[in-house]
Amino acid sequence: MRYRTWRIGAIVGAVCLAAWGLHAPSRDETLRKRAAVLERMEGVSWQRQSMPPSDGRFLRIMVESTGAKRVLEIGTSHGYAALWLGSGLEQTGGRLWTIEIDASRAREARRNLQEAGLLDSVVTAIEGDAFKEIPKLTGPFDIVYLDAWKEDYDEFFALFYPMVREGGVILAHNAILQAGDMKDFLDIVTKHPELDTVFLRTLEDPKTPAPDGFVVCYKRKVESKK
Ligand SMILES: C[S@@+](CC[C@H](N)C(=O)[O-])C[C@H]1O[C@@H](n2cnc3c(N)ncnc32)[C@H](O)[C@@H]1O
Repeated sequence: MRYRTWRIGAIVGAVCLAAWGLHAPSRDETLRKRAAVLERMEGVSWQRQSMPPSDGRFLRIMVESTGAKRVLEIGTSHGYAALWLGSGLEQTGGRLWTIEIDASRAREARRNLQEAGLLDSVVTAIEGDAFKEIPKLTGPFDIVYLDAWKEDYDEFFALFYPMVREGGVILAHNAILQAGDMKDFLDIVTKHPELDTVFLRTLEDPKTPAPDGFVVCYKRKVESKK
């Protein structure tokens, strides 16, 4: 009797696995869907899209080229940058923690990330105030991407900086056109003795009008400090 039950269980299990296998999207299908989500997001207004594709591609380049495994994003919005960061982290076998305070944006980000095949498997999307959520996370982070309200950047810096590993990178968006709104933060990172800091703009092609850009801060390794 026990043997029969075991056999029935095994058969049911095998049938479920086969059914799941038939319905699980192929890699090509997942990548097609992901590209479609990005394209859809790029089709909506700039305010919602939040950055040009070249900035998103730059984020993915940063993740993949540095082999980053642990990335924190502050300010998810609808998940456009999270999709690029997540695509890079899927390649490195890493994870993104991204935090959004606005409930409806957080919901839409989850939907977009789910459709792109990244939610939970690669991206942990947290709804909440980053000031409260960051202390609940454990570092170290290889990259921190800061893209919330600009006046808060200096306070966020104090919170996450100890969690950035030596050799890690801090990226903050809108650091050129909105430099005035994050003056305190820019003063800190440009004068910080442990950071090498530069400003950077990405262009889709050389004819593109100059967009906003990033400040990129490299937390030097101890042995390379002078
Ligand atoms: C410029 S948008 C982020 C765009 C997003 N990083 C992207 O590129 O797709 C800024 C977001 O930060 C969120 N935000 C502002 N303050 C926050 C906080 N304290 N905690 C979490 N999210 C915050 C806003 O609700 C807004 O959706």
